[in-house]
Amino acid sequence: MSTKLSVLKILEEKKGQTISGEELANHLEVSRAAIWKAIKELRKEGYAIDAITNKGYCLTEDNDRISVQGILPHLQSANMEEKVFVYKLLESTNLTAKKMALDGAAPGTVVIAEEQSKGRGRMGRSFYSPADSGIYMSLILKPGFDVAKSVLITTAASVAVCKAIEKVTGIRCEIKWVNDIYMKGKKICGILTEAVTDFESGHIEHIILGIGINFTTAKVSFPEELKDIAGSLFHKTEDLKKTGTKQISRNQLIAEVINEVLSIHQDLESRSFIPEYKERSFVLGKEINIMQRISSSSGSDVPPPVPATAVDIDSDGGLVVRYEDGSTDTLNSGEISI
Ligand code: BTN
Repeated sequence: MSTKLSVLKILEEKKGQTISGEELANHLEVSRAAIWKAIKELRKEGYAIDAITNKGYCLTEDNDRISVQGILPHLQSANMEEKVFVYKLLESTNLTAKKMALDGAAPGTVVIAEEQSKGRGRMGRSFYSPADSGIYMSLILKPGFDVAKSVLITTAASVAVCKAIEKVTGIRCEIKWVNDIYMKGKKICGILTEAVTDFESGHIEHIILGIGINFTTAKVSFPEELKDIAGSLFHKTEDLKKTGTKQISRNQLIAEVINEVLSIHQDLESRSFIPEYKERSFVLGKEINIMQRISSSSGSDVPPPVPATAVDIDSDGGLVVRYEDGSTDTLNSGEISI
């Protein structure tokens, strides 16, 4: 590890505390000049490091740059050093994760970006991914032999993300089937699950679980078409202080999402997360509209949505609906509105 990253690792582990240049130099067995050079480089990259006379350096509590060194101290699983990758800019973390999976990356690998230039959403839509205010991450997961599990991963992931948000911020979120996460009536997180299939056998080899969270995305910055729908966990760093707790960083939340996803994924078949999903669902018992897909017979016309009542979530995460004629059905994918 370079001196710069070693310094960052120590500063992240002691975030908010001061450590002298001498201590750093002795610990890393390098010169004071090398420490100063590393601090200068880190500051240039945007890390907020205070230099306090006669005391040393301190990575400030409100520093919110995403880094491997900032994520690792909060992870529960051991041996994640080689599995967490942070980039400044990617087209899409899902795309990079897919390529890495095809190149043999181990399950549990996580790809994170500070910004995405072509963030992908469900149904071929794009996902607004501005720099420095969101969390854009993709996990490479192994679905096991049962392909049905890959459907469950999507449902489980929304519970995992809600639990992670609740743990780190104390904010209770709700789920709109299938896996959109809402806070105070606004969508703050979207999840896109994609399969990586073996070219020859056609088997699903990996699942790429892509998670996008608006962390401090400013209201005004959302594109016009999202302004009424999208929200953010916090609106500016000031909000973090107002919670009265310690500053919450994106590194912490990323790590907690990884912890929750890996833990729930180990136990997918027990379906123990289904009751937790139902508890957080805000569609159950409500009148909904089911969007219909454009089929070849409908030409370019968008078919009208079908009204129904959301009755239950089945053990595979499917949405049980009752139509106006009294008949029932289970939806396994698609989109609804309320
Ligand atoms: C949706 O709400 O339509 C799903 C959005 C999923 C966005 C995330 S951000 C990280 C990952 N990379 C992508 O390109 N998309 C997912």
